Amino acid sequence: MPLSIAIDGPVGAGKSTISDAVARKLNMIHLDTGAMYRAVGLCAMDNGIDIRDEEKVTQMCREGKALVDVLYADGTQITLLNGEDVNGRIRTQEAGEAASAVSRYRYVREMLVRRQQEIARKQDILIDGRDICTVVLPDATVKIYLTATAEERARRRQLQLAEKGQQIPFEEILAEVNARDWQDMHREVDPLRIAPGAVVVDTSDLDFDGSVQAVLRCVEEAGRS
Ligand code: DC
Repeated sequence: MPLSIAIDGPVGAGKSTISDAVARKLNMIHLDTGAMYRAVGLCAMDNGIDIRDEEKVTQMCREGKALVDVLYADGTQITLLNGEDVNGRIRTQEAGEAASAVSRYRYVREMLVRRQQEIARKQDILIDGRDICTVVLPDATVKIYLTATAEERARRRQLQLAEKGQQIPFEEILAEVNARDWQDMHREVDPLRIAPGAVVVDTSDLDFDGSVQAVLRCVEEAGRS
């Protein structure tokens, strides 16, 4: 059985960047599953399909019009939508909102979970998302729930936006973080929760390197037990 490191956690916990660094250190591929939901959201937008219409989005997927896959170039994930590299186009605010909408739909989740499981069966992998420890790989070698307080996640987000020249009041960002948490934790299909056997890593008081080290320690400990 290939080695699998599964990481879940709420928005803004630094999952993607921390996962990337850990995967590079361990020389394994990193599957960012959020990118796959973003690609389906983008596909709906490209086809003029209302992302709030579950039936239409499901039909698009059933008809094979949203084929999502990934490949790796120098360790970097390239997300493909119907064969097109969409790495650039999935990182917009709009694609994020579309991803959030379509990720609530059962058919979309089943389609992507199946593909994620196929990818994980073939190789050692670090995979991050919201339902990895609970649904995609409940038997993963290492299961981690990476989190930080809502205030700390909002503070980091505020800094990121400030670096891009956007000054947004803290209270506004905190309200958004809390709203996304509520959505992720209360959706009907595969809500975000701490899986049985997952180790909680709280990065509220850790910097980036400290967070990477904390995850690496979990992996080492799992290897010893
Ligand atoms: O992590 P992200 O912002 O790229 O995720 C995009 C959206 O997809 C987000 O609303 C949460 C959702 N998602 C999910 O439901 N399940 C996953 N395994 C990964 C992401």
